[in-house]
Amino acid sequence: MRMKRIVILISGRGSNLRALVDARLPCTVAAVISNRPDAAGLVFAAQHGIATQVVDHTTFSGREAFDAALGDAIETHQPDLIVMAGFMRLLTADFIRRFAGRMVNIHPALLPAFTGLDTHARAIERGCRVHGCTVHYVTEGMDEGPIIAQAAVPVLPDDDADALAARVLVEEHRLYPAVLQAWCKDAFALEGGRVRWRDVLTWPAPARYPAC
Ligand code: GRF
Repeated sequence: MRMKRIVILISGRGSNLRALVDARLPCTVAAVISNRPDAAGLVFAAQHGIATQVVDHTTFSGREAFDAALGDAIETHQPDLIVMAGFMRLLTADFIRRFAGRMVNIHPALLPAFTGLDTHARAIERGCRVHGCTVHYVTEGMDEGPIIAQAAVPVLPDDDADALAARVLVEEHRLYPAVLQAWCKDAFALEGGRVRWRDVLTWPAPARYPAC
């Protein structure tokens, strides 16, 4: 059987990219594409022999032109799945339709709570006792696509946004590779706008934190 192929989209640091590469997933990382030429994750990818490409959004006249170029760049690598890992651009409906059902993202909150930015500060401000991260399919509504898996962490009394972000990031680095491992084995599928896992035992195990 042909090995599945993924393309990873990044914009910056690339710590999730690193976690995915370090996990030695049973799929081919065909390329890492960034919209920013200075994204640190590009260096890491190149050092690991992964093809890298920059589609710099600042050089395009608008979102449509950028998304068309990004889509073409992605398609040259013939991926089965596009994995957004800290890719910080809003995508047009045309782009999302082009890759419908083939694009996933990790969001640093327990969706559907706290879509958008500054999730950690907002969770603290609202007095949340638990917070976390979500891997989901990408659809037209921002951070609204079908949820694949989540991981929760406690919010501790003295947390500031940075401390909470660091605790969540540890879980991101565990959850995203686990979801991709499962995807490689066809352990879940999109059905009627929801994600169905073939066997509940294949879910990424929940984090082992004391009761929150
Ligand atoms: C992560 O917190 C991810 O959930 C969010 O952006 C951040 C990217 O971090 N979408 P990194 O570039 O993977 O280190």
